Amino acid sequence: MTGAFGCIGAWVVRGLLAAGERPVAFDLGDDPWRVRMIAGDDVPSRLVIVRGDIADREAVRRAVGEHGVRRVVHLAAWQIPLCRQDPSRGALVNVVGTANVFEAVRAAAGRVTRVVYASSAAVFGPPSAYPPGPIRDDAPPRPATHYGVYKVANEETARVYWEEHGIPSMGFRPLSVYGPGRDFGLTADPTLAMKAAVLGRAYRIRWGGGTDLIYVEDVARALLAAAASGLDGARVYNLHGASARIADVVRMIETAWPTARGLLGHVEEPIPFPDALDDTRYQKDLGPAPPTPLADGIRRTLDAFRALQRAGRLDARELA
Ligand SMILES: NC(=O)c1ccc[n+]([C@@H]2O[C@H](COP(=O)([O-])OP(=O)(O)OC[C@H]3O[C@@H](n4cnc5c(N)ncnc54)[C@H](O)[C@@H]3O)[C@@H](O)[C@H]2O)c1
Repeated sequence: MTGAFGCIGAWVVRGLLAAGERPVAFDLGDDPWRVRMIAGDDVPSRLVIVRGDIADREAVRRAVGEHGVRRVVHLAAWQIPLCRQDPSRGALVNVVGTANVFEAVRAAAGRVTRVVYASSAAVFGPPSAYPPGPIRDDAPPRPATHYGVYKVANEETARVYWEEHGIPSMGFRPLSVYGPGRDFGLTADPTLAMKAAVLGRAYRIRWGGGTDLIYVEDVARALLAAAASGLDGARVYNLHGASARIADVVRMIETAWPTARGLLGHVEEPIPFPDALDDTRYQKDLGPAPPTPLADGIRRTLDAFRALQRAGRLDARELA
């Protein structure tokens, strides 16, 4: 899997090990601290770790070829802020990187049975670009960011690899992923507010309006179900967690963690993405998979941060 040391990656690693798999972790980073935090201190030593850049075609091909890989979960990417800062490099990592993954799978000539990858709800634009109601799986893409454009390109890349080379794939479109391990990216702010609450610090979420919040373990569950599935085609799925207003999320954190009252806030400016997703296709193909209720996900996140804090292991560098 690629991007194994990231937030979602750490949860997928945990799930793969629990299922008795032997994941090969391909990542540019050299510090698997999120994996240690989510899956356990000893876990990095139980992984085959390949340090490499997804934009390096040969490195990706070697990793898939030399380790007898049978399925690929591709998560390595630059998120919105980095793509905004440097769109050229963002395209290299996100678009060329994804083409490199499919090329490596093609070179493995049938041994790799499928590619599972993270797309994003950023393929869609703001609610004003669509009729009222949750955005359906087949709604037209209207990306408002470079990042979203790159994710559209990846979905289309996957489609062509199915049509021209018969490589089955499943892509997933979460929106605001939250939970332990989430620390970077535009939609990380609700999780950062939860971390600030536990630390007794003030924090202002840098956007407002509504969003679709999904607990990180639910995203990992979808990716793991896809990796185990035998369905063919180039399928793409919306993921849905809970549609909520950011003002209500702040209130829910304060209710669950009363000492944070008055410390948390948000600005009104909404982000240019949907505020609700319809996940009918995912539930039909890989469900039933009821999402974690928002209040439960917030509770679990706060409790996990508290436990880490007590153990002196709560990493809060992004709040500094
Ligand atoms: N977190 C969200 O809310 C969210 C929402 C929608 C989609 N996604 C997508 O899910 C995937 C995983 O997201 P995440 O939240 O775990 O991200 P993350 O930023 O926590 O982790 C990304 C990982 O990719 C690695 N990486 C970055 N550039 C690389 C490169 N050039 N070569 C190899 N590895 C590289 C990083 O080291 C990191 O470990 C991404 O594709 C992201 O676009 C995330």
